[in-house]
Amino acid sequence: MSGRAAELDRDDPLARFRAEFVFEEGGPLYVDGNSLGRLPVRARERIGALVDEWGVELVRGWNRWIDLPTAVGDLIGPELLGARPGETLVCDSVTVNLYKLAGAALAARRGRRVVVTDRTNFPTDRYVLEGLGAELRLFDPDPVAGPSAEDVAAACAPGDVGLVALSHVAYRSGALADPAAITTAAHDAGSLVLWDLSHSAGAVEVRLAEHDVDLAVGCTYKYLFAGPGAPAFLYVRRDLQEELRSPIQGWFGQHEQFAMERDYEPTAGIGRFLAGTPPILGLAAVEAGAELVAEAGISAVAAKARALTSFGVERFDARLAPLGLQLGTPRDPGRRGAHLAFRHGEDAWRICRALIERAGVVPDFRAPDTIRFGFPPLATSFADVEESVERLADVVERGLHLDLDPRPARVT
Ligand SMILES: Cc1ncc(COP(=O)(O)O)c(C=O)c1O
Repeated sequence: MSGRAAELDRDDPLARFRAEFVFEEGGPLYVDGNSLGRLPVRARERIGALVDEWGVELVRGWNRWIDLPTAVGDLIGPELLGARPGETLVCDSVTVNLYKLAGAALAARRGRRVVVTDRTNFPTDRYVLEGLGAELRLFDPDPVAGPSAEDVAAACAPGDVGLVALSHVAYRSGALADPAAITTAAHDAGSLVLWDLSHSAGAVEVRLAEHDVDLAVGCTYKYLFAGPGAPAFLYVRRDLQEELRSPIQGWFGQHEQFAMERDYEPTAGIGRFLAGTPPILGLAAVEAGAELVAEAGISAVAAKARALTSFGVERFDARLAPLGLQLGTPRDPGRRGAHLAFRHGEDAWRICRALIERAGVVPDFRAPDTIRFGFPPLATSFADVEESVERLADVVERGLHLDLDPRPARVT
């Protein structure tokens, strides 16, 4: 480890949080927290305790469990997303929440059947929006800088747009959009705005209330460390809640749910965006992970994300640029999330495989040419950043990838 990485780690006010995570003895250098975050020690304990509670309480446990979607939502929303209490729920997947909120928004904006998004947005977002039966208007943002307010204003210019749906941090490049300017541009054109915060929650500061954001969704298994398949969150601005109706009319969103046998009438408030039975074991893990980030404080977490990625860019310039790799992430630390995209024209996939199989580093690959290195601030040291970049340079310098199969695997 260089003196500089050691010095940055010594001065890191969040260094103590690494002890909150499970690290396998002799395990690989894990830089894929942008896909699936590490396991927090307290999530393992919390899930264990809940399993015990399940064994004893059985169905009586629901008297407590039933409030978890709103209770954990009120931890994530106000602490991590700049939302007010009563505006955030934890339930379902990002995909399903997107369907519920985008469907509700379009139904409320009758006559405006166009949805705007960008061609580089995450696939599930584009698929869901297309599947709503709306007219999808796709624009092409700058591939590194991501969507801009000018892009959105131009796409909304015809005056027929009901919803603008974008990712706050782009999944491939890591570019951080300007939510204040883009939300204003969409509102000026008479449209609602929905942000996908999957790569932002727990990584950067989000100010939903301050920016007057209408709707948002996001996942909890990346920077909130809640584990594979953990439930997602959704946010609906308070003054919109009564106007919107979820297209999934499930019994958990019903007024007086246990009165049964009556016609559907959505409950008041954010609870109307619930659908079916919430996954309680997953909710316990979301609570544990979100608590950790809240304890560290999202401003400190976001500051460390900027410092880690800045150090990563420094190491990129020193070691990877001379080997022909390109930086696919904005250089301005205020314009990116917590991961970096390293691009390699022909061989990104094989380099990624060689890192995993031959160099003890776990990143991920996003077609066609990107290797992503994610640096979740609470679980990553500056030494990790330096060593992972060093091992990538070593793979390329020694050609350790050159005899590997160029065909991508099922999960990349
Ligand atoms: C930006 C973004 N949106 C949506 C999803 C997928 O959400 P789901 O949990 O429904 O699979 C991901 C998954 O990585 C994502 O990165």
